[in-house]
Amino acid sequence: MCGIVGYVGAHNASDYLLDGLKRLEYRGYDSAGMAVLTPDGYRLARKTGRVSNLATAVQSAPMPGRVGISHTRWATHGGVTEANAHPHISSDGVFAIVHNGVIENYANMKNFLLQKGYTFSSQTDTEALVNLIAYHYAKEPENNGKNRFVESVRKALLHVQGTYGIAVLCKDHPGEIVAARKGSPLIIGLGDNENLIASDASALALKTSRVIYLKDGELALVSDRSHRVITTDDETVQTVVHQIEIGLEEYELGDFRHYMEKEIFEQPTALHNAMRGRFSDDSSTARFGGLNIDPHELRQIDRILLCACGTAWHACLVTEYLIEKYARIPVEVEYASEFRYRNSPLDKNTLVVVISQSGETIDTLAALREAKRKGFKVMAITNVVGSTIAREVDGGVYQHAGPEIGVASTKAFTSQVLIGAMIALYLGRLRDMSYSDGVAFVEALKMTPDLVSEVLNISDKIHAIAKNYAHYEDFLFLGRQNMFPIALEGALKLKEISYVHAEGYPAAEMKHGPIALVSEKCPSLFLVTDGEIFSKTLSNIQEVKARKGKVIVIASDCCEFPDGLVDDLIQIPSCHDAIQPVIASIPVQLLSYYIAVERGCDVDKPRNLAKSVTVE
Ligand code: F6R
Repeated sequence: MCGIVGYVGAHNASDYLLDGLKRLEYRGYDSAGMAVLTPDGYRLARKTGRVSNLATAVQSAPMPGRVGISHTRWATHGGVTEANAHPHISSDGVFAIVHNGVIENYANMKNFLLQKGYTFSSQTDTEALVNLIAYHYAKEPENNGKNRFVESVRKALLHVQGTYGIAVLCKDHPGEIVAARKGSPLIIGLGDNENLIASDASALALKTSRVIYLKDGELALVSDRSHRVITTDDETVQTVVHQIEIGLEEYELGDFRHYMEKEIFEQPTALHNAMRGRFSDDSSTARFGGLNIDPHELRQIDRILLCACGTAWHACLVTEYLIEKYARIPVEVEYASEFRYRNSPLDKNTLVVVISQSGETIDTLAALREAKRKGFKVMAITNVVGSTIAREVDGGVYQHAGPEIGVASTKAFTSQVLIGAMIALYLGRLRDMSYSDGVAFVEALKMTPDLVSEVLNISDKIHAIAKNYAHYEDFLFLGRQNMFPIALEGALKLKEISYVHAEGYPAAEMKHGPIALVSEKCPSLFLVTDGEIFSKTLSNIQEVKARKGKVIVIASDCCEFPDGLVDDLIQIPSCHDAIQPVIASIPVQLLSYYIAVERGCDVDKPRNLAKSVTVE
């Protein structure tokens, strides 16, 4: 949430700042801005709306300079105005800052600084920090031979409560950027005679693949040819340089209209990658290289806690169903944001697993830290290699789904669900699941990419259905058992990208309240599988029909429905129960996507949202 780019080097900074911002725009798109330091002082450009607005402004009034910082904003403190857009300049004109995070004690800071004569021109928390840095700089002109710029930032940060990833410029230190993080991700990209700062590696795609991940409480002084990292307590940090792989083509839209569409259609590949090399030689169970927990220890586990936010939380719900069914281990699912403050009692043999596509969601990170603080082993399922969550857990499974740029999660979700199924299989086989059941399970998993492709092949049909439903303002998504989380996920997808009110419910729960919503103005989408509760779900559909509600059904192709019961039927291939949630997710995603397109919505950048939620 909020994207930061900094550049210092031999080239024109604004080119790289803009390029990086475009790649980070998914982190927030309320406004964008950049500051470049020139011999005459700061050149500042800030625009509300997209990075393209900033790019147009910079094109018409170029900002030459070899050092600069830029920002794409997801508003927290203060409305979406140019004055609140970053960078912010200290009122004495010495410092410029971009910030991702929330300064919780900014009001006290601001009062203090107002008394000291500093002035404010925005409603942001960030402006308090840049003025506090200026205050420390002015207060201590001598620093015993230490870099005064670094020291002022360091001292100011000691007073900050909250989270930050910052990049700061100082007029008196024209070839340097100071960057620091606590709770918000930040990396240093090392180039040849040039270095960059960025919120994540995608922003570096054109420049370098050598990065240093800053840790919480660390502060870096970066110039074109050097970098030095210390802690906010002024201790030297030995940095580790990581080589990262960034396939530029993965960030290109190609022939697709939106990243969401591209990512929906990438699912067969993403699912294939999630499984690659992860089955035992006898194809009867899964294996994972990075769990860092041996089978003996896993057998002692008598409870699993799954923690996540949003779509990843829905992946937890499916995983709960699968682990309980196939491994017979009790599972509890918690919203990460609730878990971290709830102090829920955990049995000593509990395994904690967090799921996060970005690996940066602050609530999930806080939940994992809370669990670790209590002495629990924490595993993660995450997509972004080297993300904060990936680095802080005891072990885990990378999704290898490739970068997910569309704000609405699609391929990351199904890959999380598939990995959840593989974990259920692995744990099941460590307990009571037979060899032959294991083999059947593995066979089913291996078929998933092809079955997903089959559903993608009927996208035109789903598009045609979407056209008929695009004008509705209310929707119910209903499913039972392993389809209930998919109903929740379908409702979330529709509301976040189409702004249509949608609710997900267990189909049978509907009559305890939500059925009151059913009318000719509120269609219901049922997710139906064959099996013992098929006839019960049929009754639930009848109840909606009786109240003049339109009914869309997504059902396994072996399910048969009485004439006239279903208005629109989307058939999906029958398959093993463990992979049904993945297969059923595809039409749900496509339907939401096409409805959003029909409504003229900005699918990849829905209002008020951002990918990677790094504020509480
Ligand atoms: C919705 C969506 C969000 C994320 C949530 C957690 O489509 O993408 O609900 O799932 O913000 O994000 P991660 O998985 O990055 O922790």
